[in-house]
Amino acid sequence: MSKKGTVLVSGGAGFIGTHTTVALVEAGYDVVMIDNFSNSGPSAVEGVEKILGRKVTFEEVDTCDEKALRGVFERHQFDTVIHFAAYKAVGESVADPLKYYRNNLVSYMNILKLMKEFKRPNVLFSSSATVYGDAETLPVTEQTPRQEATSPYGNTKQIAEDILRDCCKAYPGFYGIALRYFNPIGAHPSALIGELPRGVPNNLVPFITQTAAGIRECLSIFGNDYNTPDGTCLRDYIDIVDLAKAHVAAVDRMVSGKMETKYEIFNVGTGKPVSVLELVTRFEKANGVKVPHKIVGRRAGDVPAVWADTTLANEKLGWKAERDLDDTLRAAWAWEQNLHKK
Ligand code: UD1
Repeated sequence: MSKKGTVLVSGGAGFIGTHTTVALVEAGYDVVMIDNFSNSGPSAVEGVEKILGRKVTFEEVDTCDEKALRGVFERHQFDTVIHFAAYKAVGESVADPLKYYRNNLVSYMNILKLMKEFKRPNVLFSSSATVYGDAETLPVTEQTPRQEATSPYGNTKQIAEDILRDCCKAYPGFYGIALRYFNPIGAHPSALIGELPRGVPNNLVPFITQTAAGIRECLSIFGNDYNTPDGTCLRDYIDIVDLAKAHVAAVDRMVSGKMETKYEIFNVGTGKPVSVLELVTRFEKANGVKVPHKIVGRRAGDVPAVWADTTLANEKLGWKAERDLDDTLRAAWAWEQNLHKK
C-alpha cells in the first residue's frame, strides 16, 4: 500500500475519473477505480494504464448495487472516496427525473452509508457550478447564494451537497469536500484518455471537435443576443488535467488533517470568462481547422454568464489552473483525432 494512502474513485472510467486517477497515482496515491461502464468502457481503464505504465485496481461495480459496493469496502482499505459516478445530461434529466434522482442519489447514499459503517473518513463530492444558476453577481464565490435548480440533474447536485453537509455535522470522524466544477474540457496530453460522449454531444467542446472531424455538419451556437460582449454566453472552461490536480489537492487537504471545518466547498475554475464564439475561434486558430457554425436560438435553461472566483481554492488548496486555453483546445482535438485512428 502506498504511504500516502488509497482513494476509492467511483465513476473512475469517466472523463473526470480517468484523469483524476492518473493525477492521484502520479502524486503517490493508490487508487481503486470502480465503474459500471454505463457511460464509458474498458478502453478508458486501458488508457489510464498506458499512461501510468502499470495496472490499476479496477472493479466493474454499479454503485447503486449496495451489496456489490459493500464487497468493494470489504476487499479494499481506503480512507477517502471521490464520488463521480452519476448521470449528467441536463435535458435527459428533465425528460426522466426519476432516472436521475434514483441513479445519482441512491449511488451516493450507498457510498455515504458504507463510508460511515466502515469508518472511512473522507468524502469528496463532484459538484457543479450549475448550483449557482443565473447568479446576481459575477464572478461567483462559494458564498454566492445557490439558485433554485432548473433541472433534476442540477437538483441532485444541490441535494447531494446538503446531504454531505448534514452528515459531516452529525457524524464524528466524517469529513466532506464538495468541488464545484465549472466547464471541464480538453484531454490528457497523451491523447490516450478524454471525453467520450455517447450519441450527439450536449456539451460545447465535444460538439466542436466532432464538427471539425466532419462527424457533425455544423455547430449550432445557442443565442447571440445575450447581454455579453459578443452576445454569446460566457463560461469558465477548466482544463481536465488542471481539474484532476484540484482533486489531488483536496485529497491532500483531507488526509493531512488540514481542513478548517468538517465540510468545505471550493470552486474549481480558471476565473476567466470566455464566450462561445471566442472558444470556437480559438479552437480553429489553435488547431488550424475550420468549425462550420451558425447562430440559432437560445437553449432553454442556459444562463448568460458564469465564471469562478477561485481565491479560496488558490489559497486553501494551494491549487491554480495552469494550462493555457490553446493547449487545452489542441489536446481536445488530438484526442478526437486519435479516436478515429483506432
Ligand atoms: C452544462 C450543464 C451543467 C453541467 C455541465 C456538465 C446546462 C444548462 N448546464 O453546462 O449543468 O454541469 O454541462 O458538463 O446544460 N453551446 C452551444 N452549442 C452547443 C453546445 C453548447 O452554443 O452545441 C453553448 C451553450 O449554450 C453554453 C456553452 O456552449 O453557452 C457551454 O455549454 P455546455 O458545454 O453544454 O455547458 P453548460 O451549459 O455551461
